[in-house]
Amino acid sequence: MNLIKKMLAAHVAVLALWAVGAQAATTNDDIAARLKPVGEVCVQGEECKGIETVAAAAGGGAKTPDDIIAAHCGACHTAGVLGAPKIGDTAAWKDRADHQGGLDGLLAKAITGINAMPPKGTCADCSDDELKATIQKMSGLK
Ligand code: HEC
Repeated sequence: MNLIKKMLAAHVAVLALWAVGAQAATTNDDIAARLKPVGEVCVQGEECKGIETVAAAAGGGAKTPDDIIAAHCGACHTAGVLGAPKIGDTAAWKDRADHQGGLDGLLAKAITGINAMPPKGTCADCSDDELKATIQKMSGLK
Protein backbone atom coordinates (compact mmCIF):
# COMPACT_ATOMS: atom_id res chain seq x y z
CA MET A 1 0.00 0.00 0.00
CA ASN A 2 2.71 2.44 1.09
CA LEU A 3 4.84 1.55 -1.89
CA ILE A 4 1.98 2.20 -4.30
CA LYS A 5 1.35 5.58 -2.69
CA LYS A 6 5.04 6.47 -3.05
CA MET A 7 5.02 5.42 -6.68
CA LEU A 8 1.91 7.45 -7.33
CA ALA A 9 3.39 10.47 -5.63
CA ALA A 10 6.55 10.21 -7.70
CA HIS A 11 4.52 9.88 -10.84
CA VAL A 12 2.49 12.99 -10.04
CA ALA A 13 5.66 14.91 -9.29
CA VAL A 14 7.13 13.97 -12.65
CA LEU A 15 3.92 14.96 -14.39
CA ALA A 16 3.90 18.28 -12.58
CA LEU A 17 7.50 18.99 -13.60
CA TRP A 18 6.73 18.08 -17.18
CA ALA A 19 3.73 20.38 -17.20
CA VAL A 20 5.69 23.30 -15.79
CA GLY A 21 8.48 22.68 -18.27
CA ALA A 22 6.09 22.54 -21.21
CA GLN A 23 4.32 25.68 -20.11
CA ALA A 24 7.57 27.58 -19.61
CA ALA A 25 8.70 26.64 -23.11
CA THR A 26 5.44 27.81 -24.64
CA THR A 27 5.52 31.04 -22.71
CA ASN A 28 9.10 31.81 -23.74
CA ASP A 29 8.27 31.13 -27.36
CA ASP A 30 5.25 33.40 -27.13
CA ILE A 31 7.28 36.18 -25.59
CA ALA A 32 10.04 35.79 -28.15
CA ALA A 33 7.47 35.93 -30.95
CA ARG A 34 5.88 39.03 -29.52
CA LEU A 35 9.21 40.79 -28.96
CA LYS A 36 10.70 39.85 -32.29
CA PRO A 37 9.40 42.66 -34.51
CA VAL A 38 10.70 45.29 -32.06
CA GLY A 39 14.01 43.54 -31.41
CA GLU A 40 14.68 43.23 -35.11
CA VAL A 41 14.27 46.88 -36.08
CA CYS A 42 15.41 48.62 -32.91
CA VAL A 43 19.15 49.28 -32.62
CA GLN A 44 20.41 51.88 -30.18
CA GLY A 45 21.61 55.01 -31.94
CA GLU A 46 19.61 54.28 -35.05
CA GLU A 47 16.11 55.18 -35.99
CA CYS A 48 13.71 53.00 -34.09
CA LYS A 49 10.37 52.51 -35.75
CA GLY A 50 9.45 49.67 -33.42
CA ILE A 51 9.53 51.87 -30.33
CA GLU A 52 7.31 54.46 -31.99
CA THR A 53 4.85 51.75 -32.93
CA VAL A 54 4.85 50.38 -29.40
CA ALA A 55 4.45 53.86 -27.92
CA ALA A 56 1.62 54.63 -30.32
CA ALA A 57 -0.02 51.29 -29.55
CA ALA A 58 0.24 52.10 -25.85
CA GLY A 59 -1.64 55.34 -26.53
CA GLY A 60 1.47 57.50 -26.01
CA GLY A 61 2.80 58.46 -29.41
CA ALA A 62 5.67 60.89 -29.85
CA LYS A 63 6.33 63.41 -27.14
CA THR A 64 5.44 66.98 -28.08
CA PRO A 65 7.80 69.88 -27.34
CA ASP A 66 5.30 71.11 -24.74
CA ASP A 67 5.37 67.74 -22.96
CA ILE A 68 9.16 67.72 -22.93
CA ILE A 69 9.43 71.31 -21.72
CA ALA A 70 6.91 70.64 -18.95
CA ALA A 71 8.63 67.46 -17.82
CA HIS A 72 12.28 68.46 -18.29
CA CYS A 73 13.63 71.65 -19.87
CA GLY A 74 11.24 74.09 -18.20
CA ALA A 75 12.74 73.41 -14.78
CA CYS A 76 15.78 75.46 -15.80
CA HIS A 77 14.84 77.28 -18.99
CA THR A 78 11.64 78.94 -17.75
CA ALA A 79 13.40 81.09 -15.16
CA GLY A 80 16.89 80.88 -16.65
CA VAL A 81 18.38 78.85 -13.80
CA LEU A 82 22.21 78.73 -13.76
CA GLY A 83 22.36 80.99 -16.81
CA ALA A 84 20.15 78.82 -19.02
CA PRO A 85 18.75 80.78 -21.98
CA LYS A 86 15.12 81.59 -21.19
CA ILE A 87 12.18 80.25 -23.14
CA GLY A 88 11.10 82.86 -25.67
CA ASP A 89 14.29 84.94 -25.38
CA THR A 90 15.05 84.42 -29.05
CA ALA A 91 17.96 86.89 -29.03
CA ALA A 92 19.80 84.86 -26.38
CA TRP A 93 19.19 81.61 -28.26
CA LYS A 94 20.19 83.22 -31.56
CA ASP A 95 23.46 84.38 -30.01
CA ARG A 96 24.16 80.81 -28.87
CA ALA A 97 23.15 79.37 -32.24
CA ASP A 98 25.58 81.74 -33.95
CA HIS A 99 28.38 80.43 -31.71
CA GLN A 100 27.51 76.77 -32.18
CA GLY A 101 26.95 76.81 -35.93
CA GLY A 102 23.17 77.04 -35.98
CA LEU A 103 20.32 74.99 -34.66
CA ASP A 104 22.07 71.68 -35.27
CA GLY A 105 25.02 72.95 -33.22
CA LEU A 106 22.66 73.73 -30.34
CA LEU A 107 21.12 70.29 -30.72
CA ALA A 108 24.56 68.69 -30.49
CA LYS A 109 25.26 70.56 -27.22
CA ALA A 110 21.85 69.68 -25.86
CA ILE A 111 22.61 66.00 -26.52
CA THR A 112 26.07 65.97 -24.92
CA GLY A 113 25.30 68.61 -22.30
CA ILE A 114 27.28 71.80 -21.70
CA ASN A 115 28.44 73.11 -18.29
CA ALA A 116 25.38 73.06 -15.97
CA MET A 117 23.13 71.87 -18.80
CA PRO A 118 22.75 68.09 -18.32
CA PRO A 119 22.97 65.68 -21.30
CA LYS A 120 19.67 65.67 -23.19
CA GLY A 121 18.37 68.12 -20.59
CA THR A 122 17.54 65.06 -18.43
CA CYS A 123 15.17 63.65 -21.09
CA ALA A 124 17.16 60.46 -21.61
CA ASP A 125 14.49 58.88 -23.80
CA CYS A 126 14.02 61.93 -26.04
CA SER A 127 15.00 61.34 -29.67
CA ASP A 128 17.19 63.84 -31.50
CA ASP A 129 14.15 65.00 -33.47
CA GLU A 130 12.15 65.53 -30.29
CA LEU A 131 15.00 67.52 -28.74
CA LYS A 132 15.38 69.62 -31.88
CA ALA A 133 11.66 70.43 -32.00
CA THR A 134 11.82 71.35 -28.32
CA ILE A 135 14.79 73.68 -28.86
CA GLN A 136 12.92 75.32 -31.74
CA LYS A 137 9.91 75.80 -29.51
CA MET A 138 11.92 77.28 -26.62
CA SER A 139 14.10 79.51 -28.79
CA GLY A 140 11.69 80.57 -31.49
CA LEU A 141 14.43 79.71 -34.00
CA LYS A 142 13.53 77.83 -37.19
C1 HEC B 1 19.31 71.38 -14.89
C2 HEC B 1 18.94 72.56 -15.66
C3 HEC B 1 18.64 72.36 -17.14
C4 HEC B 1 17.73 71.54 -17.74
C5 HEC B 1 16.79 70.55 -17.06
C6 HEC B 1 17.81 71.79 -19.16
N1 HEC B 1 18.77 72.72 -19.41
FE1 HEC B 1 19.34 73.39 -21.24
N2 HEC B 1 20.71 74.59 -20.38
C7 HEC B 1 20.93 74.74 -19.02
C8 HEC B 1 21.99 75.70 -18.78
C9 HEC B 1 22.52 76.12 -17.40
C10 HEC B 1 22.42 76.13 -20.04
C11 HEC B 1 23.55 77.08 -20.34
C12 HEC B 1 24.84 76.28 -20.33
C13 HEC B 1 26.04 77.16 -20.56
O1 HEC B 1 26.21 77.65 -21.68
O2 HEC B 1 26.84 77.32 -19.63
C14 HEC B 1 21.60 75.41 -21.02
C15 HEC B 1 21.74 75.55 -22.38
C16 HEC B 1 20.98 74.88 -23.32
C17 HEC B 1 21.16 75.00 -24.75
C18 HEC B 1 22.19 75.88 -25.45
C19 HEC B 1 23.47 75.09 -25.60
C20 HEC B 1 24.55 75.94 -26.24
O3 HEC B 1 25.33 75.35 -27.01
O4 HEC B 1 24.64 77.14 -25.99
C21 HEC B 1 20.23 74.19 -25.33
C22 HEC B 1 20.04 73.96 -26.82
C23 HEC B 1 19.48 73.58 -24.27
N3 HEC B 1 19.96 74.03 -23.07
C24 HEC B 1 18.44 72.71 -24.47
C25 HEC B 1 17.74 72.08 -23.45
C26 HEC B 1 16.66 71.17 -23.68
C27 HEC B 1 16.12 70.80 -25.04
C28 HEC B 1 16.26 70.74 -22.45
C29 HEC B 1 15.15 69.76 -22.13
C30 HEC B 1 15.13 68.51 -22.86
C31 HEC B 1 17.11 71.38 -21.46
N4 HEC B 1 17.98 72.20 -22.12
C32 HEC B 1 17.04 71.15 -20.09
C33 HEC B 1 20.25 74.08 -18.01
C34 HEC B 1 19.28 73.10 -18.21
